[in-house]
Amino acid sequence: MKIKKVGVLGCGLMGAGIAEIAAKAGYTTVVREVTEDLLEKGVGRIQKSLDRAVEKGKMEAAQRDEVHARITGTVDLDALADCDLVVEAIVENLDEKRKTFGNLDRAVKDEALFASNTSSLTITQLAMSTSRPERFVGLHFFNPVPVMKLVEVVRTLLTSDEAFDTAMEWARSVGKEPIACRDNSGFIVNRLLVPYLLDAIRAYEEGIGTLEDIDKGMQLGCGYPMGPFTLLDFVGLDTTYYIANIMFEEYREKRFAPPPLLKQMVQAGRHGRKTGRGFYEY
Ligand code: CAA
Ligand code: NAD
Repeated sequence: MKIKKVGVLGCGLMGAGIAEIAAKAGYTTVVREVTEDLLEKGVGRIQKSLDRAVEKGKMEAAQRDEVHARITGTVDLDALADCDLVVEAIVENLDEKRKTFGNLDRAVKDEALFASNTSSLTITQLAMSTSRPERFVGLHFFNPVPVMKLVEVVRTLLTSDEAFDTAMEWARSVGKEPIACRDNSGFIVNRLLVPYLLDAIRAYEEGIGTLEDIDKGMQLGCGYPMGPFTLLDFVGLDTTYYIANIMFEEYREKRFAPPPLLKQMVQAGRHGRKTGRGFYEY
């Protein structure tokens, strides 16, 4: 399967990053959002990231303009009709993803490969909402996408060898190091990371220390680049809440259950950096 043109669904935190690295790797890239306003915000996010790279001398202005010229924004699924690969990075909600993949399946050429960037949903249930489960994989990137080297490539019982090999190769072509994962909720990294992040909230609720000291403890004691609360605000408390509910549903173990404090913060609109306030103010 030759990949020349890439489609990205969603231009939020992750979709913007995936579109950026695809265009940087030379792929013609179409990114789709649900409204013109959200599309403008998302493409603006890509521009800001590219401008930052130029400011830091990591990229020439001419190269930035070339990358930007490879990216087209749209609100119309039909604009992805001739994409060879479509990577979905929309809101972590099963119904929304299944509905969107069903529409995408009808809009995009049969031979195209579909991938989801989901953090915690299993790929099989998404693949079965299309007529192409053999050409459906997980491509799980990490935040921030331009910086984190890892991509988890997930195959289901139905993914063909050709589709899996194409996905592994494409991940390398955009400068990432892929690892092969089975279709369990959270794959490899989130299966380990999410209980740690949720436990940090539970420990804070128990009063073992301040937010700052718990973050500092993990940074200075374990060399983590961000402590758990800084990372939770960075990932998004809304997304973390969706992930926790999905993983708890899958594994039925307390360590995956969203702590009451997380639920209250999400309901109060404190979603982290993206809303200007989470555990910390921004
Ligand atoms: N977008 C793009 N680039 C960014 C960025 C962003 N949001 N934030 C920082 N960067 C870049 C900077 O431009 C800088 O690039 P150069 O090295 O080329 O100059 C580099 O990253 C380092 O940034 P800083 O020096 O400004 O800051 P830092 O050293 O603290 O690094 C960080 C920032 C890379 C984000 C670092 O704090 C880090 O690695 N944090 C942990 C991130 C993490 O754990 N991600 C996984 C989350 S879990 C997940 O993603 C899975 C899921 O399903 C939820
Ligand atoms: P986000 O809220 O920043 O962005 C989601 C975007 O999807 C929004 O802009 C929304 O308008 C858009 N959207 C919703 N329905 C859509 C549709 N039908 N078509 C097109 N766009 C649509 O969320 P995010 O953090 O970018 O997460 C997106 C996906 O990536 C989720 O599945 C999440 O689990 C996964 N993920 C997130 C992270 C992270 O650290 N945030 C890391 C890895 C994977």
